[in-house]
Amino acid sequence: MKILEGKNVLLAVSGSIAAYKSLFLTRQLIKKGANVRVIMTKASCDFVRPLSFSTLSKNEVFTDVSSESSWNNHVELGLWADVMLVAPCTATTLAKMANGIADNMVVACYLSAKCPVYVAPAMDLDMWKHPSTKRNLALLESYGNEIISVGTGELASGLTGEGRMEEPENITEILEKNLADSTEYSKVLSGKTVLITAGPTYEDLDPVRYIGNRSSGKMGIALASACKQMGARVHLILGPSAESIPVEIQNTVRVLSAQEMMEACSEVHGDCDVAIFAAAVADYRPAEINRQKIKKKAGDMSIELERTPDIAATLGNSKKEHQIHIGFALETEHEEDNAKRKLEKKNFDLIVLNSLNDPGAGFAHDTNKIKIYAHEGLIANIPLQSKKKTAFDIIETAVQQFNWE
Ligand code: C5P
Repeated sequence: MKILEGKNVLLAVSGSIAAYKSLFLTRQLIKKGANVRVIMTKASCDFVRPLSFSTLSKNEVFTDVSSESSWNNHVELGLWADVMLVAPCTATTLAKMANGIADNMVVACYLSAKCPVYVAPAMDLDMWKHPSTKRNLALLESYGNEIISVGTGELASGLTGEGRMEEPENITEILEKNLADSTEYSKVLSGKTVLITAGPTYEDLDPVRYIGNRSSGKMGIALASACKQMGARVHLILGPSAESIPVEIQNTVRVLSAQEMMEACSEVHGDCDVAIFAAAVADYRPAEINRQKIKKKAGDMSIELERTPDIAATLGNSKKEHQIHIGFALETEHEEDNAKRKLEKKNFDLIVLNSLNDPGAGFAHDTNKIKIYAHEGLIANIPLQSKKKTAFDIIETAVQQFNWE
């Protein structure tokens, strides 16, 4: 595979005994034709000398954002990279990356990088298992970074278990495979503009209370990320979600209510080839928003509700010949019938059904289990898997259904 030929790989090394493995990694990457530049944390220089990396990479190695007389341009290096690989990534570097603590060259470059970032952790068994590590890994994943799984075996501490950095040849293989896939993928939706709604909406009752729902926005964000990786121009219109948004979709429009979501969608819908309605839009809102906090009184109270705009149905009415609309249905009973009815009623071309009856599927989970229906019936039955993978499967199903290739 020649996929690494001419690719700019920024290898960031942090302070673990596994740093020696990154010398082999450098050699392999160079052999594959990549241009390799190495940056190191101070701690890593206690394990391997910068001279070893500069000799192998044939490039100067940076260990500091500035030296006595010059400033090392981390922005330039971050932009130069086609791929950034943090290997080994210690618990400390992981925590700094997760929280944006740019007090060294590695994290400064990480924050400046616009390319895919791969992280190969290396640490002791108990550090690896610690909730802090798990949380930081989850944060990096939520930024769209790729975590390379650790291996199991004897660790520097003498303990045996999980925490070893993946072997250099496997890391190279993962890079090659992902780069090949992403090169293929990046063409699938090129030239297409996609509108995606995601998350819940909040309908204000007074300045402190609202009617909302438990949607996390995860599925819609994963769809936006997948479409972007597949080469589309993406408009993500996101309700109040606590999820972090991957770096590649930073032009996200944030909205609060169904009305705001409707307006934001109407602005861009005309330019879109595909619209995916993944948001859990509130169907009703308080008929009146109180300017002041509602005070409690003796006895019960009732709230008058009115309908919100149905975004999918409204835009479905004005759908042009070339536009494809994909809807979602989350049902608790008569799932298939309800989904098929919505497909017709809202003028969708496809509808994705997820059932609240399936454990692990639907709201707030990281996983989903779905069925996809077109007007002719069921076209895909996708098992329980991560929402990220599900997002790719939904787009691939649409690509096949509408012959976009
Ligand atoms: O009717 P129901 O809410 O179940 O329909 C779900 C589909 O319609 C989803 O695709 C959802 O994003 C969309 N929808 C919408 N605006 C609403 C209600 C639902 O776009 N007000």
